[in-house]
Amino acid sequence: MITQKTIQEVMNTAKVEEVIGDFINLRRRGVNMIGNCPFHDEKTPSFTVSPSKNIYKCFGCGKGGDSVRFIMDHENLSFPEAIKFLAGKYRIEIEETENTAQEIEHKQVTDSLYIVNDFARDYFTDVLFNRTEGKNIGLSYFKERGFREATVKKFQLGYATEERDEFTKKAIDKKFNIDHLRTLGLTSKSDLDFFRSRVMFTIHNVSGKVVAFAGRTLSSDKKVPKYINSPESEIYNKRAVLYGLYFAKDAIRKADECILVEGYTDVITLHQGQVENVVASSGTSLTKEQIRLIKRYTQNIKIIYDGDAAGIKAALRGLDLVLEQDMNVKLVLLPDGQDPDSFLAAQGTEAFNAYLKANEEDFIFFKTRVLLDETGNDPIKKSLVIRDIVSSIAKVQEPFKRQLYIRQCATMLDLSETILNTEVNKGITSDLKNKRLNENPTQSQPITNPDELLINAKPTLSEDEPSLVRNDGWQERAVCSILINYGHEIFEETNATSVANFILDSVQDILTYFDIPLYRKIIENVDERLKNGIVPDHSWYISHPDEEIRTFAVNALSSPYVYASWEKKEMFLQTQKMPDENYVRDVTNGLLRLQLRKSKKVIKEMETYLHHASAEEKASEEYMINLKVYQVLIGQRNEIAAKLGTVTL
Ligand code: GTP
Ligand code: MN
Repeated sequence: MITQKTIQEVMNTAKVEEVIGDFINLRRRGVNMIGNCPFHDEKTPSFTVSPSKNIYKCFGCGKGGDSVRFIMDHENLSFPEAIKFLAGKYRIEIEETENTAQEIEHKQVTDSLYIVNDFARDYFTDVLFNRTEGKNIGLSYFKERGFREATVKKFQLGYATEERDEFTKKAIDKKFNIDHLRTLGLTSKSDLDFFRSRVMFTIHNVSGKVVAFAGRTLSSDKKVPKYINSPESEIYNKRAVLYGLYFAKDAIRKADECILVEGYTDVITLHQGQVENVVASSGTSLTKEQIRLIKRYTQNIKIIYDGDAAGIKAALRGLDLVLEQDMNVKLVLLPDGQDPDSFLAAQGTEAFNAYLKANEEDFIFFKTRVLLDETGNDPIKKSLVIRDIVSSIAKVQEPFKRQLYIRQCATMLDLSETILNTEVNKGITSDLKNKRLNENPTQSQPITNPDELLINAKPTLSEDEPSLVRNDGWQERAVCSILINYGHEIFEETNATSVANFILDSVQDILTYFDIPLYRKIIENVDERLKNGIVPDHSWYISHPDEEIRTFAVNALSSPYVYASWEKKEMFLQTQKMPDENYVRDVTNGLLRLQLRKSKKVIKEMETYLHHASAEEKASEEYMINLKVYQVLIGQRNEIAAKLGTVTL
């Protein structure tokens, strides 16, 4: 493990504008620098780098963080890999500690699995190029298909002989562990080779390591499965692997589009024909994990289908997933009987690209058209289609885009736009409800829209009080934002305590009343830090291991004025914007508002209790005590209100 000292040194040394400047052009604008965001497609730059805060933030797609985060996202590296990358740039020596026994063991196992797979890959390619059987059967097959030798080498294609256990024996001779061979599916339970008499496709993960194999039979016997694959293992989760991505990622980023095909051979032929931004999901329908993988490089997917109508219909259902992830999806249907591989091999790259251009269609329109084609005049079938389309449109995240779909699809479905609109809105509401039920209550996205608070907040009040729930979210958010922005400053009024200490003291009593788990989590994390005598600064927040906290911090630091608009919403008396230096007033007022809010809430609960108590309860001692507490609370509330200078009820 890299030591904390090295990590700290890297973080202190790395200048965000230098690190990012290596990858994109930055121009100065005021105290900040701006450029075109590398994480989404944009024409006017909204990617902002703040040298003074040492962070970046894209106001278009919301991505943000420090140098390490940028390298992780841009270069697709893990945290330690990114630290090493930056250490290399700044020539910082890396200090590593001994790993724990468990870490060492896990690392050793996965390392050995990769080594075994490398050995297998070397064996299969050796057989293909250097052995008579491999050359005569395997290599000549690939050549017949039009694969050039360089392509075969690049994709590490191979051949598995017809021998029953040649590979396994060789591996054992080399002292490879039989359990590892079995885990990887290279060797069967009865110690025979799993892949025999097949041409071999090597499957790489995104960083180019060999995670699995696929073997294609050359036999025309229908009873023999065409492809067999390595089983899943510690190093192979097939839901999270896309065939060809390692070779395609740069091209995908450059083209800002990922072409998705079905087969290994499609990927290889397209690559060879200079269409390099192509990957395959290998037989399975696209998974969430695969979509996320693609999303690191582009928001745009183009799927090429070669299936029949039934197959396409089934595939269309899965694609709502992609819409949910806010990706743009286009579909292209190939002429009957062709797959991308055969089409390009027969007609060449130019014709292939021209075909795509002329035939690509937006996913939702495609779906509407294909489904509608089948319904004829059957009203029941048609209503089912409408429901299906409505649910797809409801998954589109951007309101503007959604509206365009509604307009166009209304025409296609011969419906009024108003009706379609109403239906889509119903769909959105029910999706949100499902989301709320399915996901855990803490949100992972920064809050940009006050309505989201309503969705994420855990309502602790009766149904008729939604506005209180919502407003408290904003109050809590403001306090956390101030904490992150100014927590390490000295709070003048109470000389020598930090703002963080002051805030923590003030919210301690009301923390259990926090509605938004994220904000409570932030306060609790800071509390622990303060108890160790350390006042967190900006870099502590933006490199926090908790992703939610980190993201919130970057947002808070990028727009310290959030609470200015919040003030307006709350219709408090002072509405002027506050300069950065005025945090003393911000802190005091922000806290008082939060306390006022919470005390109103408790008073409300109390009133409900007092009001609904039965005659018998009203005579009890408990009731009397609560009545006294109630009066104290009213007194406190008035005190807070007086300090704030607001008149309350
Ligand atoms: P060629 O027929 O050699 O052109 O290969 P192809 O990749 O075009 O095959 P096909 O179009 O038949 O299948 C597309 C993809 O589905 C393949 O690349 C495999 O990922 C998967 N697939 C097809 N048949 C099988 C099978 O029998 N077993 C498994 N596991 N996957 C298969
Ligand atoms: Mn094919």
